[in-house]
Amino acid sequence: MDRHDMLLSPAGVDALRTALTRARFTANGIADRLGPQATGAVARNDYRAALRATEDRDPLATLIRVFICDQTEPEPVVAAALAPLTVEEALAGGLVERHGEGLRAGVDLEPYGDDWFVLADVPASARPGRPLHAEHVLGIGGATQTLIGATVRRPVETALDLGTGSGVQALHLSTHARRVTATDVSERALRFAATTAALNGQDWELLRGDLVAPVAGRRFDLVVSNPPFVVGPGTTTHVYRDSGRVGDAIGAELAAAAPHLLTEGGTMQYLANWVHVTGEDWAERVTGWFAGTGLDAWVIQREVADPMAYVNLWLTDVGETADPQRMAAWLDWFDAHKVEAVGFGIVSLRRAGHDEPIVRVEDLRQRVEPPLGDRVGEWFDRQDWLRARDTDGLLAARYRAADGLQLRQEATMGADGWAVDRQVLAMPRGLRWSEEIDPLVLALVGGADGRLPLRDQLALLAAAHDVAPDELAEAAGPIVAHLVERGLVEPVAD
Ligand SMILES: C[S@@+](CC[C@H](N)C(=O)[O-])C[C@H]1O[C@@H](n2cnc3c(N)ncnc32)[C@H](O)[C@@H]1O
Repeated sequence: MDRHDMLLSPAGVDALRTALTRARFTANGIADRLGPQATGAVARNDYRAALRATEDRDPLATLIRVFICDQTEPEPVVAAALAPLTVEEALAGGLVERHGEGLRAGVDLEPYGDDWFVLADVPASARPGRPLHAEHVLGIGGATQTLIGATVRRPVETALDLGTGSGVQALHLSTHARRVTATDVSERALRFAATTAALNGQDWELLRGDLVAPVAGRRFDLVVSNPPFVVGPGTTTHVYRDSGRVGDAIGAELAAAAPHLLTEGGTMQYLANWVHVTGEDWAERVTGWFAGTGLDAWVIQREVADPMAYVNLWLTDVGETADPQRMAAWLDWFDAHKVEAVGFGIVSLRRAGHDEPIVRVEDLRQRVEPPLGDRVGEWFDRQDWLRARDTDGLLAARYRAADGLQLRQEATMGADGWAVDRQVLAMPRGLRWSEEIDPLVLALVGGADGRLPLRDQLALLAAAHDVAPDELAEAAGPIVAHLVERGLVEPVAD
């Protein structure tokens, strides 16, 4: 893509960066200026304290008023804040727009991270009554942040962001990838991404086209995508949300494309929605997406919404809650396809090059210790460790209960004192899994101090509980593998 295809000319981008950095319009600069209370209030869309703190209208104050508090300010004041960028170029690029007696934000110009800037469209909620552009460029919302947090941030040579929009995922990729490629079907989105890149001194390869078409035949070490994953009849009104694919087909399409996109050992992560169909197991449906791909897959379902809540959420997102026909058509489609709920989650795939890939599709609704991306990386590491061992290998290894592992008991008082009803192992850190276990597994984990190989530990347990050692070893293998997979028990390095 032509590097000059941006909202502003290259000289204009330089001028804007000069204005923003000179004024200290960065996350830290703004926090210093506003103080903790007003900064906290701004995060809740309460601008009163921020407006009181910026009455001077020096350049930083004006930028905060215009781009954070969405105020209309007099043109000479805005001109002073944006200089050396001229108001003419800012207007022509859509950075600001005329409103009433002055100028207001024409885009969402967000100071982000330590010293980044991200350009996107002003959200629907800030311009009530104004229809969203069909190629609306999404700002940094909840889904965006979910993918940012879930991405495995290990150093790679090449990374791809599919459906880059504002370019925020690409910005994060640039911290650990030597080369970043970003694609989008929308020319408008690419103009925003190119401007975000230039404003942050980045040089990405930007390509236009449908999903993987612009990178056909190429492979990457890391691929991320926050695609238009919204499930519905396949109609497209807003390209950031609607893929034009029917139902949850985009999730399956990305899975099918993944083996051709990844280098050996490469990772692909994307957000997806999937339907829960009456009489069908959602996890089986999603597992089917990876059949024949040869990829290890870990899919975690983070949320589930009923159709009404789901349709409302997405109509509100584009400011269309008041359109009863659209709502009815969408809900009718859910009814006709027996969709009783929609799941939202994160798909993590890895090209491990093994004949028997591991595919795990599971609910993970608990709050996890951030960043989730570190946990995803560790999950695949543990799979590598497990895959390298048969049952004998598992029995020969030594294990230690994970740091901080807790035992929670429920018991009922009876004539003979407490009778234990349930025993649950719980991890207060990381993925915060909890697992109900029986007394034998409890004894096994309790004795896992890293000194004895599992085989010897089991022999002691077999003698104490009067069971055959071989039977116990056979039963324990899969249980220990499961506890290792979930990180409740850790192998000790030899
Ligand atoms: C949900 S937004 C994500 C934007 C940004 N990556 C983020 O994480 O905030 C989806 C993006 O995918 C783009 N998109 C939609 N359909 C696409 C397609 N078929 N191929 C490529 N990109 C597409 C949209 O233009 C939009 O920029």
